[in-house]
Parts: sequence; structure tokens; C-alpha cells
Amino acid sequence: MKIVLSLGGSVFEGVERIREFANVLDEIAEENKLFVVVGGGKMARELIEKARNLGANEVMCDYLGIAVTRINAMLLAFAMKNSAKRIPENFIEAEELSKNYKAVVMGGTFPGHTTDATAALLAEFVGADLFLNATSVDGIYSEDPRKNPNAYKFEKISPRELLMLVAKEQAKAGVNVVMDILAVKILERSKIKAVVFRGEPENIKRIVNGEKIGTLVI
Ligand code: UTP
Repeated sequence: MKIVLSLGGSVFEGVERIREFANVLDEIAEENKLFVVVGGGKMARELIEKARNLGANEVMCDYLGIAVTRINAMLLAFAMKNSAKRIPENFIEAEELSKNYKAVVMGGTFPGHTTDATAALLAEFVGADLFLNATSVDGIYSEDPRKNPNAYKFEKISPRELLMLVAKEQAKAGVNVVMDILAVKILERSKIKAVVFRGEPENIKRIVNGEKIGTLVI
């Protein structure tokens, strides 16, 4: 199976955690062709805030964010046995590298979106069978469950329904939506099966082994 994983930067808070992910991903890459796109996490957010305060515009901030995602990608790639150590700058390079390696790890590509969208574009480019979105929540909810106790989790949702949900959320300033709107649009047109789930190493293994957790976007 060809798998693309979008791994939020929040993972990169400690050596042990990176090692845990690296071990699980190495195991998955033994049986599958694996592509991982790593996010920028706290470091990206802090540096972007600094740059903004120094007068940088949003595109400049995006470039800064991309640089951090690439550093995080290096950390994960260096911790993995099966990954290429070179971090591709675009999808063509990523696919080329994958011919010689079981796994390829990369960061962001160009300004204007987050690594969720980068990962969805990569999934479309390489013709992935499965798109995995590791997030800080255990699936997609009808509303923010921390704010509304009546919010319910979707077992399954169509990209079109998700698009409407994300558009509604994004309209509220400062809200962190579960998936980048561009990522959802790419999933809709490419028709790639996606799973949104809590980003624990064990969960990645469970999904690849066919267990139904999180929310299926199809
Ligand atoms: P992230 O993907 O980590 O953004 O990229 P995020 O909003 O923190 O994502 P979540 O919340 O973990 O899902 C960090 C920043 O890098 C820039 C954007 O500014 C983004 O906010 N970036 C990243 C790009 O401009 N292009 C990319 O392809 C990737």
C-alpha cells in the first residue's frame, strides 16, 4: 500500500516521542511505501509570531514556517532506519527518492497553506491508497467538543460535508480547524481515502492494520 501521513509538529516535543514515531514508521515502511509530511509545531508558531512582530508579511512568515517543518522532517528522517536522509523540496523529488527508499520524509513546500495540504497534494501526486492525518483530536466532530458537550464525532464523512464544516469553522477568527481547507479540496477531487485520528504512534499501526478508529473521510 502507498501511504501518505501528515504528522502535526506537536509530535516534536521530545526525543523519546520522536523515537517512538520513528520506530513505528520504520515498521510500517517494511510493508508499505511510506511518505511522511511533518508540521512545524510550537517552534514554527513562536518564530512566526516573532517575525510578524518584526514586520514580516504573511508570505515571509509562511517561508519561515516551511523552514521549521523541514528541520523537523530532518529530525524524523535521521531517527528512522528506512527513510531517505535528504529532505525533498517538492513532490517530484519526493517521488524520485521513493524509488530508492522505503520511506521519504518532507516538510512544507510553498506559502499559503499548512502541511496538511502539502500532504494531500503529495498523496494525489504519488497516487496514494491512503491518507492519514494525525491530529491532536480523536476524529472529526460536528462542533468543537470542548465548547459544546452535544457535539458528536463522525465515524464517516464525505469530503463535501467536511468542506462545509471546515469553511464554517474557518470563518471564526483564530480558530484552529481540524483540517486545512485546501487539504479537504484536494481529497475531494482525488477521491483518496483519508483517516483523521489522534496522533499516537500506536494508532498509526492500528489503522494500517485495518482497525477502524478516528473518522473516515471518503
Ligand atoms: P504547519 O503545517 O505546522 O501549520 O506549518 P499549523 O497551522 O501549525 O498546522 P497544524 O495546526 O499542526 O495542523 C507551519 C506553518 O508553515 C507554513 C504556514 O505558515 C504554516 O502555518 N507552511 C507550511 C506553508 O506556508 N506551506 C507549507 O507547505 C507548509
